[in-house]
Amino acid sequence: MNTPLLVLMSCLLLLPALAAAQAAAPASAQATAAPARPSKLGLCSACHGVDGTSRTPGTPHLGGQDRVYLERALSDYRSGKRQHVPMTSLANALQPKDIEALAAWYAAQPGFKRGTGR
Ligand code: HEC
Repeated sequence: MNTPLLVLMSCLLLLPALAAAQAAAPASAQATAAPARPSKLGLCSACHGVDGTSRTPGTPHLGGQDRVYLERALSDYRSGKRQHVPMTSLANALQPKDIEALAAWYAAQPGFKRGTGR
């Protein structure tokens, strides 16, 4: 068998595998739609709750809040543009990837309903 024919045949053999990989792509995109539980969530839950419903007077509810707004708020605490004890020091313990994960998590929660939580 000559080499070009061999190359052509191995390409044909690979085609179904490539098609299968492409068909699997939308499924994995769906899996990332529900955010994974952030590794740093434990730093926040005492005050904001796991679901973003505040447990503490004076602490804002975060559940269902706009994701981009949450990212900006955390980045602003981290940079010092927005200052508040304890949020400034907490945000300093976060990496940009933590901020993204926490904002996505809280934005995906159902949100505070009057009469629930505190
Ligand atoms: C000790 C209690 C406490 C903990 C722990 C805490 N927060 Fe906060 N958080 C607050 C308070 C109080 C405010 C309001 C601060 C202000 O007025 O700027 C706040 C504000 C925020 C805001 C801005 C909300 C808005 O509507 O502008 C975000 C976002 C936030 N916290 C996220 C987090 C995340 C993420 C964590 C965990 C890394 C966390 N917080 C941990 C008490 C806490």
